[in-house]
Amino acid sequence: MLATKDQHCIWHPFTQHYTADAPIVITQARGAYLVDENGKEYLDLISSWWVNLHGHAHPYIAKAIAEQAQRLEHVMFAGFTHEPAINLAECLLQIAPSYDKVFYTDNGSTAIEVALKMAYQFWLNQGQKRAKFVAFTGAYHGDTFGAMAVGKTSGYYDPFFDLLLEVTFLPYPATWINDDSVDEKEAAAIQSLERYLEDHAQGTAAIIFEPLIQGASGMHMCRPRFIETVVKRCRQVGVLTIADEIMTGFGRTGQMLACDTLNGHYPDFLCLSKGITGGFLPLAVTLCTNQIYEAFLGTSYAKALTHGHSYTANPLACAAALASWDLFKQEQTLSKINTLSQAQAHWAEALSAVPCVEKCRQQGTILAFNLRNFNPEQLQKFKRTVIENGLNIRPLGATVYTLPPYCVTPEQLRSAYVKVIDYIS
Ligand SMILES: Cc1ncc(COP(=O)(O)O)c(C=O)c1O
Repeated sequence: MLATKDQHCIWHPFTQHYTADAPIVITQARGAYLVDENGKEYLDLISSWWVNLHGHAHPYIAKAIAEQAQRLEHVMFAGFTHEPAINLAECLLQIAPSYDKVFYTDNGSTAIEVALKMAYQFWLNQGQKRAKFVAFTGAYHGDTFGAMAVGKTSGYYDPFFDLLLEVTFLPYPATWINDDSVDEKEAAAIQSLERYLEDHAQGTAAIIFEPLIQGASGMHMCRPRFIETVVKRCRQVGVLTIADEIMTGFGRTGQMLACDTLNGHYPDFLCLSKGITGGFLPLAVTLCTNQIYEAFLGTSYAKALTHGHSYTANPLACAAALASWDLFKQEQTLSKINTLSQAQAHWAEALSAVPCVEKCRQQGTILAFNLRNFNPEQLQKFKRTVIENGLNIRPLGATVYTLPPYCVTPEQLRSAYVKVIDYIS
């Protein structure tokens, strides 16, 4: 009933409505499970597009939002401020102490737009026109125009190619378990970067990357040392660096931030969203240093960053984010992340032994593999089978991945992987 009504009036994201199955009506969620209108449960192995951290409908976050809603639901964020935004900014700067300022937006794509605009105007405010941006092949940074431009090679944007900013794409050394060509690929990728910087560093505003894992284009993983070298080299020649941790932030790769693996070489900008509110409400931030911030100061408004959204720093979203951060401490979430990462490592090994599995890879709580020689019909069948059997897994082409909420239990994981191995074998 509801699904039919939905089909009459709703246009869903990333959906070819001509061929898509009717959407599943979810009426409740708890812990790692979504529950549909018939009471059927789905283990949410992809954390509802990578946003959920502590489990669905966590009462502590729900309560914090309800209390905040009765005090202050929203206020415009230019000329006004409020305690939840201030407290959250202070928390974020504790999590990421290399940064000094927090700029709020309301989704991952806009956090990226802000970083790109800040980088461009940083140079402009100092009399330099640097119009070039650099990204890695296969990167995905969101669906607004600037984000699409730096994610042009993600495979999602063909209709818009003619409208996008010019961006240079450099090779990305994707790797996996038992990959014996990783050193070679990394050396070649660094060489390409060096060549680019030699010729174009002066005119380049910034380079952007998803540290450790390129998500939406297929969960391509790289070693921390590659990203560390990119940051170091770019900094030496004065090219700004932007880390898109929209997927990887808040523990997904095993530590709070993927950039925590870079031996202290934090990029100039850090973009966070998705998990920031524990998966309850839309919110995003772009963090930068005082060096960037100060380039926007002056007596003229022309030097300011003219960017903002109606719901910037929404108090309910900030309250949810603060509650999520409390839960990290109360529930010892980092230790849960550690346990989940170990379980994922175990299953990565088990999956590597399955004949149709290739390029199995794992980074913290994220596990991914490719299905060898599966044709589109087989992939479609797999997609339907998992959902029919109560697993929310949404493959990216031939790439199957899991990115579970941190409350998932070893037994829930085991039962899911046993089913997955059965369906693909
Ligand atoms: C790495 C990365 N950057 C940016 C985005 C865009 O975020 P949003 O969908 O909130 O706009 C995503 C979304 O999947 C992402 O994974």
